Amino acid sequence: MIFQMKTPLPPAACARIDETDDRLFYAEPRIVTHIDDNAIAAIKEFFDQTLPKNAAILDLMSSAFSHLPEGFPAQRVVGLGLNAVELHVNPVLDEYVIHDLNANPTLPFDDGEFAAVIMTVSMQYLTKPVAVFREVHRTLQPDSPFIVIFSNRLFPTKAVYIWRATSDAEHAELVQHYFRLAGGYTEITFLDCTPQTDGYTDPVYIVMAKKCEES
Ligand SMILES: C[S@@+](CC[C@H](N)C(=O)[O-])C[C@H]1O[C@@H](n2cnc3c(N)ncnc32)[C@H](O)[C@@H]1O
Repeated sequence: MIFQMKTPLPPAACARIDETDDRLFYAEPRIVTHIDDNAIAAIKEFFDQTLPKNAAILDLMSSAFSHLPEGFPAQRVVGLGLNAVELHVNPVLDEYVIHDLNANPTLPFDDGEFAAVIMTVSMQYLTKPVAVFREVHRTLQPDSPFIVIFSNRLFPTKAVYIWRATSDAEHAELVQHYFRLAGGYTEITFLDCTPQTDGYTDPVYIVMAKKCEES
């Protein structure tokens, strides 16, 4: 599947089996990890090498774990998600906010508040992805990264149609397409960070981009 430069997705692409209020689905806390230990280790290593130190970081669609390396020096880590219990027990968050991005994609943060935004294994649940990517752009400082990490698991009733209908490789194209449609991003990059192991590992795919200096 090739996503054309400026082709918006039809609304049906982001339809879901379960269109009830997302807060109902996430009302019960799930204090669990959504990928295996090998995948988490790869993400921690990537964050260690990539995230700015002593800076403000936003963990979008956050839960009980942000997968930052142990002792990672951050000025401030803010979590945005739907379950207060999960966010409350997350050991790295300094603050958190409950906010439904599908009901309202406008982020409750100021322009240029963050030096990095991360979003881990949650991309498939956004029904207005381009609006959210534009909002992330607004809240980022120039030359700062938005890092989208995905694997291959999902809650099928809450994942959007286009994600369920496409392959891992097409997911990588799709996320890059979202960055291009949002605009104002540069260095849009796909990385396969799946750990090399003889045993089983969940795959780890990353699409990241930086906010343009001049935008
Ligand atoms: C599979 S979990 C991933 C959690 C965490 N990022 C991680 O790496 O373990 C999906 C997360 O997306 C969040 N989420 C789902 N729908 C959302 C929405 N409409 N608005 C904001 N967050 C949402 C949920 O709160 C949930 O924590």
